[in-house]
Amino acid sequence: MLVSAKEMLTKAVAGKYAVGQFNINNLEWTKAVLLTAQENQSPVILGVSEGAGKYMCGYKTIVGMVNGMLEELGITVPVALHLDHGSYEGAKACIAAGFSSVMFDGSHYPIEENIAKTKELVAICEEKGLSIEAEVGSIGGEEDGVVGAGECADPKECKMIADLGVTMLAAGIGNIHGKYPANWAGLSFETLDAVQALTGDMPLVLHGGTGIPEEMIKKAISLGVAKINVNTECQLSFAAATRKYIEAGKDEQGKGFDPRKLLAPGFEAIKATVKEKMELFGSVNKA
Ligand code: 13P
Repeated sequence: MLVSAKEMLTKAVAGKYAVGQFNINNLEWTKAVLLTAQENQSPVILGVSEGAGKYMCGYKTIVGMVNGMLEELGITVPVALHLDHGSYEGAKACIAAGFSSVMFDGSHYPIEENIAKTKELVAICEEKGLSIEAEVGSIGGEEDGVVGAGECADPKECKMIADLGVTMLAAGIGNIHGKYPANWAGLSFETLDAVQALTGDMPLVLHGGTGIPEEMIKKAISLGVAKINVNTECQLSFAAATRKYIEAGKDEQGKGFDPRKLLAPGFEAIKATVKEKMELFGSVNKA
């Protein structure tokens, strides 16, 4: 059964580790993340962007697929199904479809509007026992066509949003979605420290987990980050493994064109990446 992300994140804050959110794109992706979480006895959050939601034939299809897998694969570790960077309408649609967690990204609105919309969604989620993530300060890079500059959030605004009763808070600290450019200035620990000083035990979320050096990940966790989002890195691993298979001509040997064979190396590559991240984040054996 899907669970809210609240308990797993409260435990992560107390235990000084982070739970990974791995974005899913299809059946293979979902199965790879769930099996890796089970094998490593790690709690996990499946992330679904609105674009990926459309790609996978809508939120109801995803809920059906994930619930089916939890049962058929015998998954017993805590799993949350979470909308990533949701709009106000998207969040409502996911709640209706059976997601156990949503993110409302109101970071592009003026703070008053972000507060008003977040507050309404917090009330709905509270009533249904779902977890909700809010965002202050847009995360840089491109995601689903939305391009942000990688701002640093205003800690006072973070405190205002945290006080609305959200489960977790994404604060921009110079992080960027996708690959980091060579001249990236790194995470602003000064901002993170200031945000944590005002928000206390609130689980903080680090977006753009792909390509952040290990020491920075560890330092971020020590400063209250309890959820780390990873998307691009699994895509890169999947693509590289699939490329290798095809370049070696394996799709032309025997029945190598069978999708169950063709997609297998990419599937294993996602599993390896997810395992590596779970180890780095410290969530192994924390289920
Ligand atoms: P990356 O694609 O950089 O790993 O970021 C994922 C993310 O933050 C999803 O919200």
